[in-house]
Amino acid sequence: MAKDADIDWKPDSWRARPARHIPEDYPDPAALASAETELATYPPLVFAGEVRRLRESLAQASRGEAFLLQGGDCAESFKEFHPNNIRDTFRVLLQMAVALTFGAAMPVVKVGRIAGQFAKPRSAPTETRDGVTLPSYRGDNINASEFEPGLRTPDPQRLLKAYGQAAATLNLIRAFASGGYADLRNVHRWNLEFVHDNPQEDRYRTLADKISEAMDFMEACGVDGSEVRAIREVDFYTSHEALLLGYETAMTRVDSTTGRWYDTSAHMVWIGDRTRQPDGAHVEFCRGVENPIGLKCGPSLDPDELIKLLEILDPGNDAGRIVLIARFGADKAAAGLPPLIRKVQQADRQVVWSCDPMHGNTIKTEGGFKTRRFDAILSEVRTFFDVCRAEGANPGGVHFEMTGQNVTECLGGVQEISEADLSSRYHTHCDPRLNASQALELAFILADRFKEVRSI
Ligand code: PEP
Ligand code: CO
Repeated sequence: MAKDADIDWKPDSWRARPARHIPEDYPDPAALASAETELATYPPLVFAGEVRRLRESLAQASRGEAFLLQGGDCAESFKEFHPNNIRDTFRVLLQMAVALTFGAAMPVVKVGRIAGQFAKPRSAPTETRDGVTLPSYRGDNINASEFEPGLRTPDPQRLLKAYGQAAATLNLIRAFASGGYADLRNVHRWNLEFVHDNPQEDRYRTLADKISEAMDFMEACGVDGSEVRAIREVDFYTSHEALLLGYETAMTRVDSTTGRWYDTSAHMVWIGDRTRQPDGAHVEFCRGVENPIGLKCGPSLDPDELIKLLEILDPGNDAGRIVLIARFGADKAAAGLPPLIRKVQQADRQVVWSCDPMHGNTIKTEGGFKTRRFDAILSEVRTFFDVCRAEGANPGGVHFEMTGQNVTECLGGVQEISEADLSSRYHTHCDPRLNASQALELAFILADRFKEVRSI
């Protein structure tokens, strides 16, 4: 973080560094600058005190006293913006969190990939269809996904629209989190609204029964649930990849209480696997803000480079500052993860280890669908837990691309989604997401794993 002596850091000092995956083809750079200037006058989306609270919870996760559940869309879109979609994602995260809290018997830190997850790094800068080449789709805050020349051109007005959508999304989430919807005494209602043919329904009902019984018992003992904030409300945080740094810079403000810089676009931001160069723009930006920083760790990350990144991003070695998000792929995790964990342990670094079992497990079917196998996702999560255990590190969290909708984007799970099913409800604008059933199924499997470990 930027210390007082660190006069070199400014919210836009990254501009002097090599910046990957930030578009340079805005036709009118002055219009971009003016949209960013306007954005800088808009109210913050999150507040420094909330960010500090998240850091405290993540510090607990780094010590094995809490577990991070981070999940949501690969990319949010303007088209899918609807209160029901937000509610459904929020609800399935709540259900997963309840299952995990029960299994792990510790607090679950709930962080959505939501209210700002728009910009995407792309493997190729252009896309060719039927001999026509256009710029790749880079996320709705930059250009449109439709394959049309005018629409693929970056448009600065999209930054302001993305801010508006993030603000409205967050407003609804705050209402859900503290306005009664997330009250634990409603644990059954979250299921009632759930798709009825969902195979996880019975399992969830059994769990909800146990929770209700426990609440009745507490009420009988004189604990009034409506007086207890932890029962009445949830803490729900937002996060996205800090990729489009012009947007992040415009949202970065000094906190009047501490005099430090906070990126007020989300509680937590992360650095992607393609933009984590120690001398690059994204690391430069993130080192100066106080938010918890996620760092994607894939097969190409050298353990020494990881330590270098930690020294830049977290010079004070503060628990709760760094979440290392391993995303190796089911077949690479067993070999790739231990050297990283060992190096981090040797350096006595306090981090949260989290597992993203999505981004190393993307495949393409013969029918041309980008998809992921539930079994591969589960296998990477299991390997992550095994490796952490063997290395004496705490498995501190998971990071999923998921939705509350009943989509058919990932293969398998108890619904046994097959390649032939993919086309029926394949709605993603970017990577394939777990649907509500698959996401909850994973949470139950993880909860069982926690229970097993606790009983040893
Ligand atoms: C993502 O999380 O959407 C993403 C692009 O991941 P990664 O940087 O790990 O590839
Ligand atoms: Co993705």
